[in-house]
Parts: sequence; C-alpha cells; structure tokens
Amino acid sequence: MSDERQIEPAPSLRGEVRVPGDKSTSHRALMISALASGTSTIEGLSSGEDVASTSTMLQSMGAVRTDKGDQVTLTGPTDGLHASSSDLDCGNSGTTIRLMTGIVSGVEGVHTLIGDASLSKRPMDRVAEPLEMMGSKFSGQGKHITPPLKITGSSSLVGIEYHVPKASAQVKSAIIFAGLSASGPSTVHEDVRTRSATEDMLRHAGIQIESVDIGQGRSVTVHPGRPKSAHWVVPGDPSQAAFFAVLGLVHPNAQIHVNSIDTSAERIGFVSVLQRMGGSLSIDASGLKASSSKLSATEIHASEIPSVDEVPALSVAAAAATGVTSFLDMGELRLKESDRFEGSMRIASLLGCKVWSEGDDFFVEGLGDATLFHDFTIDSGLDHRIVMSSAVAAISGNGGKITGVSTVASSYPNFFEHLDSLR
Ligand code: S3P
Repeated sequence: MSDERQIEPAPSLRGEVRVPGDKSTSHRALMISALASGTSTIEGLSSGEDVASTSTMLQSMGAVRTDKGDQVTLTGPTDGLHASSSDLDCGNSGTTIRLMTGIVSGVEGVHTLIGDASLSKRPMDRVAEPLEMMGSKFSGQGKHITPPLKITGSSSLVGIEYHVPKASAQVKSAIIFAGLSASGPSTVHEDVRTRSATEDMLRHAGIQIESVDIGQGRSVTVHPGRPKSAHWVVPGDPSQAAFFAVLGLVHPNAQIHVNSIDTSAERIGFVSVLQRMGGSLSIDASGLKASSSKLSATEIHASEIPSVDEVPALSVAAAAATGVTSFLDMGELRLKESDRFEGSMRIASLLGCKVWSEGDDFFVEGLGDATLFHDFTIDSGLDHRIVMSSAVAAISGNGGKITGVSTVASSYPNFFEHLDSLR
C-alpha cells in the first residue's frame, strides 16, 4: 500500500460493512489457547498485524498454529510455553507487549520484547511495577521502562493484591496472566471498569476467577491454574465500528449498517455519547445502524469510554456538531500509539474548528455541519486510529490527504476497501 492517500468526498454513502474480529478478543483467544494444553479453535480472528504479532510470538514460544479458511487452530505445548532464543517482536501493538509481559513473567528464562518506533516510546513501568512485585525482573529504557524490554521470568511467582493507579485493561490483564502461574490468588482493583475479556475468557477456559463490581470500579481475583483448550468465536470489533458510526452520522447523506459487534458495556460507551449528541444510531444483535443526523455538543468524560480508543473518531463528531464539546480527563490519550490528545485536537483544528486544552481536558467548537469541513493534510504518526478518523472526516467533508496510511494494517487491513464500498 502506498503510504499516502488522497480521500475524495462522497455525495452519498450506503451499504453494509463487516468490521474485523475484535482485536482484544483475538489477542486473548490466541494467548489462552497457547497457555492451554491441547488444541483450541478460533473463528473470526482479527486479520490485523497486531494480532499476527501475538500469534508469531506464541509460536516462537512453542505453540503450533494451522489455518483453514476462517478457522485457526492453536495447540499449546504439553509442557507449557518456553523462552524463545530470538527477540519477541510486538510490532505496533501495545496489547501484545503488555499482555505478553504477564505471560512471560511466569515462564523461566530471559525474554526480549521489542517493538516499532511508536511502541518503543510507550511506557511499560505500569506493568513492570506489579509484575516485579510478583517476582519477575524487568529492564527497559529510561524512567518509564520503554521497549526493548528484557524480562526474566520465574516459575515461582507470588500472588499479589494490586490497585491499578490509572484503570487499564492491559495492566489488569498482565497481572491476571502472571497470576495463573503464581503460588496463590491475585486480586486486581480498578476504579473504572475496563473491558473484561481476559476474565470472561479465562473463566470460559476453566480458570477460577471472581469479579465484584464496586461503584464504578471492579475487583478481580484470579486463582492459579492452566486454562483448558476451548472453541472461540470472535465478535466484530466495536472500536472499528465506531468509525462507521461517526461516518454514518456526520456525512450529510448516509445510511450505514455495521455487522454485529461485541456489545459489552465497557466497549460501547461511544454509542451513548453519539446518541446523546442527537445521532440516529441504533444497536442490537444484528449490528449497528447509523444515518445522517444533526449533532449537538456534549460533555464526554474518559470513564464513559474506558481505554479512550474511540476519542479520535468522536473528535470528528464534535467537529460536525453545533456547540462546544468537552473531552474531560483524557490524559491517557497521550500514551497511545501516538499522542492522541494532540492528534484528536489536530484533526478538529485542521477541519476548521476552534480547539483548546486545559490540563487533561480539551474542547472542540464544532462547525455545525460536515459540509463546512476544510480540505486538509495530516500525518498519521504511525497511528491507525488517527488515519481512520481523518478518512471519516475527509469523505464526509471536503476531502483530505493522509500520509502514513499503511499503519491501518495493524488493526484493519481492509479499511479503505470497506470505506470505498459505501460510495
Ligand atoms: C486493550 C486495552 C486498551 C486499549 C487497547 C486494547 C486491551 O488500553 O487502548 O486498544 O485489549 O486490553 P488500556 O490498557 O488503556 O485499557
């Protein structure tokens, strides 16, 4: 794929999109299957490079994969995963590296985890702290322990009780995975409920794991054990559906249907936000339907959309809305594949909106109508969600040029094909 793309506006958009298998479920289906003894089957695995990085790593640690059509089988080694003599390349994928730090912590030997230029800037101290308490040893670059990482795993980890300082599904999951090979139970507390795929899927694979909701938060206790092989069916990815939801609403003449997706509460906060903005958006077992709507501004707090993956797309909705949309407590955006705090503001600003920030909050004064969006040029900064959000803005408004588009392959290789199929 050429690394630059000119997107022309579309007079109308109609049709159905099948978004890829959910990335979070896909990573975990591979990981849990590799930890199990025996053969697991996975249907609908994400075809993105992030999930391929997880698969390659697990294979170099002893798992065996075969593909037949849409079905993947993965066999975990009878005697468990072992340290690989080569570097484990996580590519662009934060979920791969953070979850794998938990897995390799319980595998004897030294593991070297590396990533691309974007991942090499992302902090791993958030997983290093709890995992070192459990008994693994970390070394990385600088104060925030950025990759490359060297992790010395241990077969005698201890269980811990840990309060995650800033709610994160990746940190919670790393501790849970390490907890499988600890000598006793581990408990993780989070102040805001993040996606529960790790807990739910491990329970499905026979692991004893308890969750208690407390206020807006949750405590999860995992007991050590080896998962059993299982059959996994991966639902559609709601975070990818979010791009088409915003597209269907902000484009002046659109009716878009997205296939069925994971509808767990922690994943579809963006739907309530867009409905509150006045969006004609419905979601049920058959999927998500969006059609052109007049949007008005709202206040969005990060806890409504834990993990904040959908914020760049929501900034395009804010740019098309009437009034000032507030994005509150969005500091975590700075630590994603790129600085998405700056990136989300930049998209809205390039479209012609007045934008400003105060601490971890930012504000977008919308133009009231996507037909008023400016033509623009943007560099993705190796961030798939910045590419897709920019493309949604360009096709809805007056076009735009995006550089660094090949990074969409990390999560959604067919994104542009699907986008064009709606013209
Ligand atoms: C993910 C967790 C998220 C999210 C990412 C996927 C996961 O980050 O940004 O796209 O699968 O666990 P947090 O760890 O900040 O919740």
